[in-house]
Amino acid sequence: MFKIGDVEINNRVVLAPMAGVCNVAFRLTVKEFGAGLVCAEMISDKALLFGNEKTKRMLYIDENEHPMSLQIFGGEKETLVEAAKYVDENTSADIIDINMGCPVSKIIRCEAGARWLLDPEKIYDMVNAVVQNVSKPVTVKMRIGWDSAHIYAVENARMAEKAGAAAITMHGRTREQMYEGQADWEIIRQVKAAVDIPVIGNGDVTSPELAQKMLDETGVDAVMIGREALGNPWMIYRTVHYLETGELIGEPDLKEKMDVLKLHMDRLIDLKGEKVALMEMRKHASWYMKNIKGNGRIRKGINQSETRSQLVEVLDEFVAEHQANNTELIV
Ligand SMILES: Cc1cc2nc3c(=O)[nH]c(=O)nc-3n(C[C@H](O)[C@H](O)[C@H](O)COP(=O)(O)O)c2cc1C
Repeated sequence: MFKIGDVEINNRVVLAPMAGVCNVAFRLTVKEFGAGLVCAEMISDKALLFGNEKTKRMLYIDENEHPMSLQIFGGEKETLVEAAKYVDENTSADIIDINMGCPVSKIIRCEAGARWLLDPEKIYDMVNAVVQNVSKPVTVKMRIGWDSAHIYAVENARMAEKAGAAAITMHGRTREQMYEGQADWEIIRQVKAAVDIPVIGNGDVTSPELAQKMLDETGVDAVMIGREALGNPWMIYRTVHYLETGELIGEPDLKEKMDVLKLHMDRLIDLKGEKVALMEMRKHASWYMKNIKGNGRIRKGINQSETRSQLVEVLDEFVAEHQANNTELIV
């Protein structure tokens, strides 16, 4: 267990914020698989303040997902502070996280996301302004630097701490790396050693054993898991269990995978309506189906399903076929 401000996190496994993925439907599902903390997809400060309806819906939080963290991004102090105040006063989020890692050009052009990594003074100024204006704990999620020539991870983390951040998540890649190459855990170790607030390590935790390795090698308080959890909430459950007991639980069978996919879909339908949910489920379904033998056969069926019942039929047929042939699950 560790604490972020006064928020107790009861284990060391955190679901990463992922745009287009970490809405309440996915967060709740991952929470049920034991995540200590779940993080919501990033929200634009300006879109929130302009009253954009879609953005406001992104603020919806279920009572069963606490503790949860809501992430905002922006490039200007005034709007960032106003958006943080809005989240502070109008949502039940436990933690407000500031995005300092998004590498996408559209975000960088707005002086937001990873742009800050080049300017430790700005980090201090912006984080301090937010901290002074809200009552919830404020955390930051950053990358180690802009590129290999500009790695200010330790300095940036110290600035965030000095500004009053309650915790830091460090993704061990630069902005230039985007999602390529290996995450640098040595720099994460240096950051943990340099600050007194909790540090969550992130990048390339793709198995329960690697989660333990990151904890051992870097000393971080918790690990954050992103891509490996896509279509795979079992990754969270297996990691929590492994860290607590040293025992490695096997992968789920196909029926269990499809049952959770359906649960996820039903939550997404509740959130966004059947039409939008079914469109969005295409990418999730392809993640749930990853590494399953014969998955190519039903790709078309999945992508053409426009209603819940159509998708359920495709999935049930696939499960029945597998059971009849007693097929191995993994490719
Ligand atoms: C589809 C996708 C969306 C993401 N969206 C966000 C986001 O909204 N906010 C953020 O801070 N990071 C975002 N990230 C980065 C992840 O939170 C995480 O830092 C990164 O994937 C590295 O962790 P991993 O190696 O476990 O995937 C996103 C990553 C992916 C793959």
